[in-house]
Amino acid sequence: MAIRLVAFDLYGTLLDYNALVDVLRVYTPMPEAALDAWRQRQLQLTKTTIAARYMDFDRVTLQALTEIAPRFMMKLQPEDVKRLVDAWAHLPAFPDALAGIDAAAQRWMHPVVLTNAVLSTARNALAYAGLASKVERIFSSDTIKLYKPQRKVYDQLLALDVEPAEVLFVSANDWDATGARQAGFHTVWVTRRRTGFAVKPERRIDDLNELAALLREYETVVP
Ligand code: LAC
Repeated sequence: MAIRLVAFDLYGTLLDYNALVDVLRVYTPMPEAALDAWRQRQLQLTKTTIAARYMDFDRVTLQALTEIAPRFMMKLQPEDVKRLVDAWAHLPAFPDALAGIDAAAQRWMHPVVLTNAVLSTARNALAYAGLASKVERIFSSDTIKLYKPQRKVYDQLLALDVEPAEVLFVSANDWDATGARQAGFHTVWVTRRRTGFAVKPERRIDDLNELAALLREYETVVP
């Protein structure tokens, strides 16, 4: 079955949140460690809200920041918190992001985004990064108030009248690639030269410059 839809994760896959180190540097002498803790807590909270009440991703990002701030000696006024949370909508695209999206579009494989981010934040972030006009549609966890890697979030893509086997899911987040695989999609893990994957991905690439070659394979080999 041919691939008809290529779905990209947002943060860490198309958009480089490492740029937040520079924003955090104003508030802490340990910006790298603070960002790492912030991202880890953000993701952890998306998992804990499964059991508790759903909180949207902007709220999750804010709460994660206020929880980790004292550990990194960050004294944040409300306007600082707002600035830091807003920064998630003002991130640069990875240099290879456009090449990856274009590789799909050029093969008539519709490029879309599937993200845990709130739809409006995702839209603003893609616009800021110059990618908004490149993706055909954004799917958000917020629409169904569940987070990846829950199956129903991935199943939203099937509204585009595609079979799971016609979808290629592209993510730099290992748990996300695993979730997509469990939803029956073809899956590529963008390692960005990291290691440590708990579940074997179907394919792995170092960055999105390699996606075009991989899509050519999917065109010729019927998986
Ligand atoms: C996203 C985060 C979780 O869904 O990477 O964009």
